[in-house]
Amino acid sequence: MTITALALTNSLSHEPVMLEECLSALQVQLGGRYVDCTVGGGGHALAILEESSPGGQLLGLDADRNAIKVAEARLKAHKKDVILVNENFKYLENICTRYGYSPVNGVLFDLGMSSLQLEEAGRGFSFRQDSPLDMRFGDKQVLTAADIVNTYAESELAQVLYKYGEERRSRQITRRVIEKRPLKTTLELAQVVAEAVGGVHGRIHPATKTFQALRIAVNQELENLELALERALNILGSGGRIVVISYHSLEDRLVKDFLRREAKWCICPPGMPACICEHTPRLRSGSSKAIKPSPAEVQANPRSRSARMRVGERI
Ligand SMILES: C[S@@+](CC[C@H](N)C(=O)[O-])C[C@H]1O[C@@H](n2cnc3c(N)ncnc32)[C@H](O)[C@@H]1O
Repeated sequence: MTITALALTNSLSHEPVMLEECLSALQVQLGGRYVDCTVGGGGHALAILEESSPGGQLLGLDADRNAIKVAEARLKAHKKDVILVNENFKYLENICTRYGYSPVNGVLFDLGMSSLQLEEAGRGFSFRQDSPLDMRFGDKQVLTAADIVNTYAESELAQVLYKYGEERRSRQITRRVIEKRPLKTTLELAQVVAEAVGGVHGRIHPATKTFQALRIAVNQELENLELALERALNILGSGGRIVVISYHSLEDRLVKDFLRREAKWCICPPGMPACICEHTPRLRSGSSKAIKPSPAEVQANPRSRSARMRVGERI
């Protein structure tokens, strides 16, 4: 079996997260035109195409070239209605311009890493298997987790763990990492983090937050998301929907603040005597509460438990 065929088989066994909620939030319509910014194994994309056909179209992006191959295989039946591009979603608007693909009816982001990436040997996302400390979503990127772990100054590394992992023990962990580096593999790093905090106790491994922080830093996840949300508004047609599924509080806060800001008439700093921003709302934002997966989905797919979905509608 080729790697793509194996990955495709694995991807079929992973249900896309909050699928029904996602289709309904996007208000997928017959003949509609959609962008899936994180096409991954193609689960959401396939459902969008099925719901919008005949006539529906989808442009799918992913920074990971393996994901694009898997999505290509999974979306084969809709080949003529699909464009797949191996690029970072921060280039969303340029890519849509290149393909004459705007305005669109909906834009979806299902953020973070896929189950395929988590399980793929050699990617470095998981400390359940030994692998080089890589963590890049795409091979066009240069910086790896090993670069951060082994070359950042102590204060810089502690800042990464604190800011992106919300790790309260960032200094403790960083001190130990600096003593032990160079660290080459995921298991070495997980071991050093465990030593730094006095061992592994309870269900959640103490390296979980460190791994999250490194992944976010390597892939500049928050910076790219901020850029891409902005660009998504430029390609959405009137009444089009933007739907974002995020998996940790930093992302969710960023999305919430963006949707709130874009729904306001004024974004001047508090205390200004008069409005000088001349901002006009570009979105109608739904409830200020995020939509969560149902208890049944969390039970069937524990990886969905941290998912939070937010939706905005282009004015
Ligand atoms: C949670 S998975 C998406 C799963 C997909 N919805 C499905 O149904 O199979 C997230 C995907 O987004 C990709 N990704 C994350 N950040 C990206 C970015 N800035 N640009 C492009 N792709 C990105 C990852 O490589 C990964 O394949």
